[in-house]
Amino acid sequence: MSERPLPRHVAIIMDGNGRWAKQHKLQVALGHRKGVEALRAIIRESSDIGIEALSLYAFSTENWRRSPGEVAALMGLLLEYFTSEIDELDEKNVCIRILGDKDGMPDKQRAALINAEERTKNNTGLNLNIAINYGGRAELARAARILAEKAVKGEIRPEEITESALADALYTRGLPDVDLLIRTSGEMRLSNFLLYQCAYAEFEFPAALWPDFDLAAYHEALEAFRHRDRRFGGRNS
Ligand code: IPE
Ligand code: IPE
Ligand code: MG
Repeated sequence: MSERPLPRHVAIIMDGNGRWAKQHKLQVALGHRKGVEALRAIIRESSDIGIEALSLYAFSTENWRRSPGEVAALMGLLLEYFTSEIDELDEKNVCIRILGDKDGMPDKQRAALINAEERTKNNTGLNLNIAINYGGRAELARAARILAEKAVKGEIRPEEITESALADALYTRGLPDVDLLIRTSGEMRLSNFLLYQCAYAEFEFPAALWPDFDLAAYHEALEAFRHRDRRFGGRNS
């Protein structure tokens, strides 16, 4: 079978920071900090090899259940990341989009997220989606609300609520479906990430904990994808 092209849209569930910290007898916050370094390298590489869209799961609607100390550390890192990286990302022509409910974020973080989106919205390089305060079910409920409001106003008829109308009401509007979903740390579940967009995604579950996920591991996952036989319900002869 011939090799396929690279995935257009890669989604990554960056998991294993806590276990990495434990392994190294460090506080969990340091695991998350180390995780940011891995993230920088993966974003840069994705941009360099011409991936069209990269969606990273950074903080789920369920992650608020963690201890106040860990949540505060994550919020601090988020702010730091968006403040320190925005220049380089903008220079690299990266278009940043936040997936998730920004209104549920603390003021400073919300302002930084809005600023990143505004500043890079006309960039034409890598589409970098960062999922923050994101849940797939919440996203679908929000899409249903958007469409219902349009219907109530008479802007759309119920029969016009098609798969593509629904896709247009998601945060990922205008982007291709996820081709490859990678979850690090060996866990094999979606944890409420991109439920609609992953309908025909290929899955890779590398064992590496997120802070140890390097470019070699990333290329291994991309290579595995290129050998998959994708049928989308049909037959490839
Ligand atoms: C993923 O690492 C990062 C976030 C959820 C923010 P975890 O913190 O979930 O790491 P483990 O699963 O405890 O190892
Ligand atoms: C999913 O990881 C969320 C992120 C990576 C941001 P979790 O570690 O929160 O997921 P569960 O709890 O193991 O399913
Ligand atoms: Mg985890």
